[in-house]
Amino acid sequence: MTSATTHIATDFTFSDQENRQATAILLQCESNPYRDYASFREDISNLTETLPSRFQVYCLDAAQRDMETSPLAVMTNCPIDVHLPIFGSIDPLQDKYTMKSTFVAEGFLESYAQLTGTSTLAHLTVNDGDFFHDIYPKESMYDKQSAKTLKTLKFHRDFPTHFVSPDFINTITLRDTPENDVKSTFAYTRETLATLSPSDIQILSEPRFHTPVDDSSGSSKKLSITSPTSHSVVIPGRCEVRIFEGRTRGLDEESQAALDVFVCALHAVKRTRISAPGDAVSFSNRHVVHGREVNAINDEASLRHRWLMKSHTVTDLESYGAHFLEDRYGVVNG
Ligand SMILES: [Fe+2]
Repeated sequence: MTSATTHIATDFTFSDQENRQATAILLQCESNPYRDYASFREDISNLTETLPSRFQVYCLDAAQRDMETSPLAVMTNCPIDVHLPIFGSIDPLQDKYTMKSTFVAEGFLESYAQLTGTSTLAHLTVNDGDFFHDIYPKESMYDKQSAKTLKTLKFHRDFPTHFVSPDFINTITLRDTPENDVKSTFAYTRETLATLSPSDIQILSEPRFHTPVDDSSGSSKKLSITSPTSHSVVIPGRCEVRIFEGRTRGLDEESQAALDVFVCALHAVKRTRISAPGDAVSFSNRHVVHGREVNAINDEASLRHRWLMKSHTVTDLESYGAHFLEDRYGVVNG
């Protein structure tokens, strides 16, 4: 595949003046999103209309785009926190709770969610129901297939077989690692399926596959969840797939062969992107499969402190109401 077809364009760039303005506005939010998300969401909702108008207009456009052909929205020079503490590798989440005192990045993710007509969602099995998650290496996960790994994270959909799989994943880069060759990877589902034969698509559309619970959800201390005994990779009639490369298996020889073809196709249409601080990428979890490539480690200490933040959002939060914890609206009991 040539670079012309795998190029990832930037869709919106904050000017320096807009960045300063947005940062100052988001700093007005006094609620802590980890202690009281409902208040945080309300505070941000009161601030969104004061954000730079060009950004507000862009978000309206981004929400209307065709997700099959344009599953990614890329923004640069977005507001992030000025002070970015270095966390330890044993329990970086706990370090964040105690060391991170401003919430500009979280405010940006929440603003984008609201301005694109979506709602942020949490899962009890991921960071005990937080609404904002760090992509930050953690020693016990260095070798796992999780966002907290130091290694390549293979192609996957977030929550591929979970009963509440988010519509969008929104990410923002806080601290990059230019010393190392690390790239975000994306494969558009539409382009992947276009390379497959009708017979392979037919096999992939049948419930002849199994995916074990992912390493992130599987490590939860709060709850253990199970995965369905079988599922299809392609959701019949939709431009949507459920896969975790290397974890999803065909249940018989023929289905495994079709899966192997599918994984090769993901790599053939792959697009890559190197993130810099202030870069935000929002993508449809339904229309793109994503991962991360760690191609060369020249400075492991720097890689240990690479930091992105992400949130999961849905277009219709109320439709998942039956799955929420009784005392925590928007937190999926699973
Ligand atoms: Fe992911």
